[in-house]
Formats: sequence, structure tokens, C-alpha cells
Amino acid sequence: MINQLLPDSAADRTDDDLLALYGYPSQRPWVRFNFISSLDGSATHQGVSAPLGNAGDRRLFGLIRRLCDVILVGAGTVRAEGYAGPLVSDEDIRWRTAHGLAAHPALGIISGTLGVDPDSDLFRLSPVRPILFTTTAADQERVESLSAVSDVVIAGVESVGASTCAAWLNDRGLGRILCEGGPSVFDGFLAEGAVDELCLSLSPLLTGGQGSRIAAGVDSPDLRDMVLASLLESDSALYGRWVRAQGP
Ligand SMILES: NC(=O)c1ccc[n+]([C@@H]2O[C@H](COP(=O)([O-])OP(=O)(O)OC[C@H]3O[C@@H](n4cnc5c(N)ncnc54)[C@H](OP(=O)(O)O)[C@@H]3O)[C@@H](O)[C@H]2O)c1
Repeated sequence: MINQLLPDSAADRTDDDLLALYGYPSQRPWVRFNFISSLDGSATHQGVSAPLGNAGDRRLFGLIRRLCDVILVGAGTVRAEGYAGPLVSDEDIRWRTAHGLAAHPALGIISGTLGVDPDSDLFRLSPVRPILFTTTAADQERVESLSAVSDVVIAGVESVGASTCAAWLNDRGLGRILCEGGPSVFDGFLAEGAVDELCLSLSPLLTGGQGSRIAAGVDSPDLRDMVLASLLESDSALYGRWVRAQGP
């Protein structure tokens, strides 16, 4: 059961309620990040995020995927978590096609080194041809071998530009962007001021250890102001949605 606390309180929200609450605004591109954090601030438990999530989180995670044009993710997360096969369920596909979306969201992967195996299940089992965002510095042999199984897009010189990626996707009608991390990718988007929304699950679990925060990288002098748009609760976990503050 997922209960809504804000903007209004209401118990036991249906999937339709949650889809309406998490619907993308009209602005394109719209870059939404979705993360989970342990209560003590770690993005992982023993190297992966899945143990932090409860049933409510898994339900919401799927519904959030249902609404997007493209799932964008860093190569580190692909390597740690595995992204093989369809990323949405049959029920999601029915809902998506009935609502004018492509059956499957597109899949974008950010990688500087192109350290992903073209023979892996990531490419073999994907129902869509993945898009690989990389840089002019990428190894040409890897570009060629990965071009056989994906669309390789040069989106930067030394590192992939967040805004370049978002604009490229938007130009192809993929403006409802769901970025599932990880922390390095989030850091890059934060540095460019390219984060419109953060969906954050706060798990009631304490992990200890030295797991990364949800943003990991270069310390920025800037503070980014976000506004709480909604807050849900399920089994002591909180699911917040913060959007970029408007203003000067
Ligand atoms: N708590 C959560 O919700 C959550 C979500 C996602 C991931 N995670 C966890 O985060 C950990 C992975 O962290 P991570 O920071 O390594 O993940 P990441 O951000 O997914 O991946 C980092 C990698 O992505 C590529 N990359 C990122 N930004 C780039 C840029 N601007 N230009 C070029 N390449 C870029 C690089 O790939 P190459 O090395 O291929 O060049 C880099 O090594 C895993 O343990 C995962 O489980 C947690």
C-alpha cells in the first residue's frame, strides 16, 4: 500500500493515481532522475541499490519507467546492476501503447571508455537498439564494434555533455527523459544545471559502510534549490519528488 502525504493526504493510492501524480510536465526536454538512498545516505548496499528498495519502491520504480520516452543510464550502473532485456512489463507496454507512447522506452547509455561488451545480453536481449553516448576521445575500434549493435553518438570531447545528451534525445522526440543514475552521471547533470526533477526514495534501512552518495564526483560551489512536489509513504519508506525551483 502506498499512501500519499503531500500535496494532499490520501491512503492506498492506485496505479492510476500514482501515474497522474508522476506525469511529466509539458516542458521538453524534462530530465527526471530516480534514485534510492539508505536512511544513512548510501546509494548502495554491498555495491548495488536493489536491497534498499521495498515493495512500494519497486512498484513506483516500474510506474515511473512506464511514463518516459527514454531511460538514460551510466555505464557504471549498467555494469553493476545489469540492464538486459525489456525494462518494462507487459502491463506497462499495454498502458504505453494505449497512451500514445512507444511500446518500449528507448535506452541511452553514457560511457567515455565504451567499456561495454557488444556481445553482452545488454545488446543481445534489448527490445530496442541502445543509444551509446560517448566522446571524440573514444577508442575507434570500440566505436566500430559497438556501432554494429547500437547507435553511437558523440556528445562531447573529453566527457559526455549532459545538456548535449538531453537536446539530442529531445530532437528525436525523446524529451521525457528518465535518468536512473548513477552517481557520476547525476554529478555531471548537476554540474551543468541540467536536472529538472529528482525522484528520491528514502529507504528506512541503515547500511553503514562507505557506499557512495547519490551524487559522486566534483565538489561544486553551487547549491541547487529544489521544491518538494509530492511525498508518498509505504512501510516506513518515503518517496519524494522534487522539481527545480523557478526563479532568477
Ligand atoms: N541508489 C541508486 O538509486 C543508484 C542508482 C544508480 C546506480 N547506483 C549505484 O551506483 C554505483 C555506480 O556508480 P557510478 O557513479 O560508477 O555509476 P554511473 O554514473 O552509472 O557510471 C559511471 C560511468 O558512466 C560513464 N560516465 C558517467 N558520466 C560520464 C560523462 N560525463 N562522460 C563520459 N562518461 C561518463 C563512465 O563510463 P565508462 O567507465 O564506461 O567511461 C563512468 O565510469 C553502482 O554501485 C550502482 O549500484 C545506485
